[in-house]
Amino acid sequence: MITPLRWENGVLWLLDQRKLPREEVWLPLETPREVADAIRDMVVRGAPAIGLTAAFGMVLAVRDGGDAGETTPDEVLRGGLDAASQGQMERLFEAARVLEMARPTAANLAWAIRRQLQVAADALAGDEDLESALLCEARKMHAADVDGNRTMGRHGAQLLREGDRVLTHCNAGALATGGYGTALGVMRAAFEAGLNISVCATETRPYLQGARLTTWELVRDGIPVRLIVDGAAAFLMQRGEIDAVITGADRIAGNGDVANKIGTYPLALAARDNDIPFYVAAPLSTLDLEIPDGEAIEIERRSGEEITHFRGERVVPEMVEAINYAFDITPAELVTAIITERGVVRPPYGEGLAQLFEEGEDGA
Ligand code: MRU
Repeated sequence: MITPLRWENGVLWLLDQRKLPREEVWLPLETPREVADAIRDMVVRGAPAIGLTAAFGMVLAVRDGGDAGETTPDEVLRGGLDAASQGQMERLFEAARVLEMARPTAANLAWAIRRQLQVAADALAGDEDLESALLCEARKMHAADVDGNRTMGRHGAQLLREGDRVLTHCNAGALATGGYGTALGVMRAAFEAGLNISVCATETRPYLQGARLTTWELVRDGIPVRLIVDGAAAFLMQRGEIDAVITGADRIAGNGDVANKIGTYPLALAARDNDIPFYVAAPLSTLDLEIPDGEAIEIERRSGEEITHFRGERVVPEMVEAINYAFDITPAELVTAIITERGVVRPPYGEGLAQLFEEGEDGA
């Protein structure tokens, strides 16, 4: 199974996704700052994958001798600890701050870091070994993510039919998660169940996650895939060449608005205009129900050079500036259903999404 990260002998290894599909290079990381840089520089990307990476980054923070810096630790988590434990907690808060700033839009990043801070506070209060507790939790999160994706895949596969041509955007596959994938997990599960589906992958400018990563994953699995330029998607839908759209998500607000890779919103508009279902597949760790709607989601802006340059060389005239939002917001009313590991939620999302958290593991 493809996984973008692994832990070996106290070192976090990341598959350098910037180099795929031409080279498979694994990079060793030993400090939280290196981990934050790797997340920011897109060595690893995809909301669940960066959350898991940060969870292991928090393990590295235990040994990192770095200065605690100026932190504003959460009193609840710090309360009642002796001075040595408080020092360790401060260091973890500093690592958390650095990691969380690396990419702001993915809900999974803050979710994983918060969870590790709670585990650390509990371990210190209970006199447990801090590093083992954090490592154990990171491994648990990784395994749960893969399991959840398989379950999500089975739920989502029921929405597809024999022969469906499914369009996807960016990469919401094994590389973007602990393994198996969310949107691609649904396609994998359908294919494994014997449905003869095929995939249409958008290139996904400017980072080419669709062209480089989605096609690479699907070819390895023997799932038929064809590539289109981003601007061709609506035309294919209009010609009747697409039966369903499935994307992942970076953050889903309480009302069901979805933040995902820039270019997702126009896909949803085109799908609506052509009567094609538009599905979003995402784990519960991507749901941010405290945020009322998409307007409150922070959208990452990246360097314009990702657009003005190609392989390090400027390809547009000097003096031209680029606007590089990494994500957009798809309004909930354009989303046919949200596929999660606890089942498929249909509108109205406010109620349906909240209920997911009240149900047990099998409450789909
Ligand atoms: O900029 P990226 O490559 O991190 O963007 C990734 C996406 O937009 C994915 O669709 C999303 O994170 C879900 S991945 C399961």
